[in-house]
Amino acid sequence: MTAARLDKQKTIDLRKKHIGPSCKVFFSHDPIKIVQAQGQYMYDEKNDRYLDCINNVAHVGHCHPEVVKAGAKQMELLNTNSRFLHDNLVQYAQRLQATLPEKLSVCYFVNSGSEANDLALRLARQYTGHKDIITLENAYHGHISSLIEISPYKFHQLTDTEQSPHVHVALSPDTYRGKYREDHPDPAAAYADNVREIIEKVDDKGNKIAAFIAESLQSCGGQVIPPPGYFQKVAEHVRNAGGVFIADEVQVGFGRVGTHFWAFQLQGEDFVPDIVTMGKPIGNGHPMSCVITTKEIAEAFMSSGMDYFNTFGGNPVSCAIGQAVLDVIKKENLQANALAVGSYLSHLLEEQKEKHPLVGDVRGRGLFVGVELVRDRVKRTPATAEAQDVIYKLKEERILLSADGPHRNVLKFKPPMCFSRQDADLAVQKIDQILTEIEAALGLVMPSKTVPANGTSKRKVPFEENGHHIHPNEKNHSHGLTTVKASKTNKTRRT
Ligand SMILES: Cc1ncc(COP(=O)(O)O)c(C=O)c1O
Repeated sequence: MTAARLDKQKTIDLRKKHIGPSCKVFFSHDPIKIVQAQGQYMYDEKNDRYLDCINNVAHVGHCHPEVVKAGAKQMELLNTNSRFLHDNLVQYAQRLQATLPEKLSVCYFVNSGSEANDLALRLARQYTGHKDIITLENAYHGHISSLIEISPYKFHQLTDTEQSPHVHVALSPDTYRGKYREDHPDPAAAYADNVREIIEKVDDKGNKIAAFIAESLQSCGGQVIPPPGYFQKVAEHVRNAGGVFIADEVQVGFGRVGTHFWAFQLQGEDFVPDIVTMGKPIGNGHPMSCVITTKEIAEAFMSSGMDYFNTFGGNPVSCAIGQAVLDVIKKENLQANALAVGSYLSHLLEEQKEKHPLVGDVRGRGLFVGVELVRDRVKRTPATAEAQDVIYKLKEERILLSADGPHRNVLKFKPPMCFSRQDADLAVQKIDQILTEIEAALGLVMPSKTVPANGTSKRKVPFEENGHHIHPNEKNHSHGLTTVKASKTNKTRRT
């Protein structure tokens, strides 16, 4: 294999010639050629090692030997479609179900996050008999036509005539940059009221809501963590209107948030979505995904009279791999690691906020953490160029991090779940050095003794389980969340 490896420039040339130009690479002026990976490390063609802080697909670690072995073993034996009975399919469905509230009991196995979300929309529309969808500002739910329509992160590039009149965009529940911020007495109710107002307007026009869809924590949208109670209130409004709630767990599921296996569970035990979609980490890199819903919704889908067949979805190899991923999460205590290391990482980043004026906000759960860079803490001016600078300089230090959100100013941590404290130390130490350099060049200094706009200062404030300071307004909530927000600028890249 190594002997036949192409020279890097040749790989670039062939890619330019044969791969669609809209398929972008990271670091386009000097892309990285990765030839192998293990755990949380990736290696380029010169065997230089990169610390991977962004690969939420390689959930249990790149090329985990037990996952690879499970796939290879089943591939030697049989791979076929789900029209034949096979134990892997039913046993895997049973195990996935066991991670969820009881009423979410029926699985459809598909092959990508996009396929899962597209099927979720079909299920919702068939069950409700309604057509309209409410999505959040800056949301991304997939690359196929039905999902570009509900992905403001992408769809504002469409012309008005291409945009669907059946899609409605609700405010992102972002308490850092959004309409209702951390000083609002009840941001959850205020943001949910916005959804209720949309439902009323849709109703006035004679249309009906089929579904509200949201990531349980918004990722491309800038690591936004909805205030606790928001989903319950939204679900109430949506269900009152005859619609269903779809939780997109494609990026944030499978224990990443540390305290819970699913990120929607952060909202409290009283919240259960009607449909949950899963992807990315589910197969640790093997292309597979799943939609899980209630018996009632599945039966309504069946009543259309149309069979559902998916050539690859739920094949014995995918199901063997999916089971191996669940095994490794448990055996290696990766959810607990996400909580412990995520908490430690958040704590280190909070310290950076005390030190660097560019750090406007640090928010996250487990190993899903965002650092929002701002040029001015009071105005919260997005530090977009500075965030890109940080990313590029980290790359020179062999650390892979990305910047996202509507302003591309939010540094995103979503590493493989085996990420260690030492990895966190290294990444934050380099970020510290880079921010120090950038701030010196810009002449930025810490605003002396002024209380930053998001309300924290050098005084000691309590920590919650993830290492975040709890904002005074949030102390009474069970999850003490913080957030980001978005706007209408836009970019074309995604992770
Ligand atoms: C939240 C979310 N949903 C859905 C998708 C689509 O998944 P896929 O690229 O596997 O089709 C993505 C991909 O980035 C995503 O981030």
